[in-house]
Amino acid sequence: MSATSAGAASPPTAPSFYKATIGKKVVMALTGTVGAGFVVVHMAGNLGVMGGAESFNRYAAFLKTSMLVLWAARLVLLGSVVLHIRAALQLYALKAAARPVPYAKKAYRAATPASRFMIWSGSALGAFLVFHILHFTTGTLHPSFIEGNVFHNVTSEFQKPLIAGVYLVSMAFLFLHLRHGLYSLTQSLGLSHPRYVNTAKLVANALAFVVAAGFASVPLAVLTAVVR
Ligand code: HEM
Repeated sequence: MSATSAGAASPPTAPSFYKATIGKKVVMALTGTVGAGFVVVHMAGNLGVMGGAESFNRYAAFLKTSMLVLWAARLVLLGSVVLHIRAALQLYALKAAARPVPYAKKAYRAATPASRFMIWSGSALGAFLVFHILHFTTGTLHPSFIEGNVFHNVTSEFQKPLIAGVYLVSMAFLFLHLRHGLYSLTQSLGLSHPRYVNTAKLVANALAFVVAAGFASVPLAVLTAVVR
């Protein structure tokens, strides 16, 4: 029997592939926007650690004023993360199915190194997020966790170079993921124009850098004893 006989799956046609992918890309763009909005706000809040224990702990307590609002925000965020990962995996599977026989020599065209790296940077961020919540939110992985004393929880851990290093490497992944994600979402949502491609790339890079550098300044400030 030849390899092309009945029963073998035929590769999808270009239009059906396009239809199948665009919806998922829009889901990725919208859920990614929710995630990006969260990291901007979370990063700005974290800079409050520079103001000392009292004000930072007060800010953290303020965020828990209404459990209803807190859990509503958590559910929106969790739902967005789940849908984002689901769409990413489906797109990845579609791409693989569209080209079941691997190229002898991989010749990427539209895909930039950044876009190919998204699945890796995204996986690293997913692993970071699980660790981070068990570390600072539930305290499960924190050796001296004190409920309500967020300043202590953060500063006691970032004095350890290994922990600070894990966060700094994760922020490098966040930068790489965010810079490409922010640029791609302008395309997925139809907001791109050939004339503004470079501007969109510049804005995405700048925003991703500000967010990642803002986060990174927290472990760096503790590690260098600027904050104690
Ligand atoms: C150096 C970087 C970061 C620091 C110092 C930091 C700090 C914290 C702290 C202290 C908490 C616990 C807050 C509390 O219980 O009151 C927290 C929670 C959280 N962080 Fe971060 N964070 C960082 C980066 C990130 C990043 C990059 C993300 C997302 C990709 C993220 C997502 C979250 C989430 C989802 C929670 C749980 C919020 C909740 O439901 O209560 N964090 N973070």
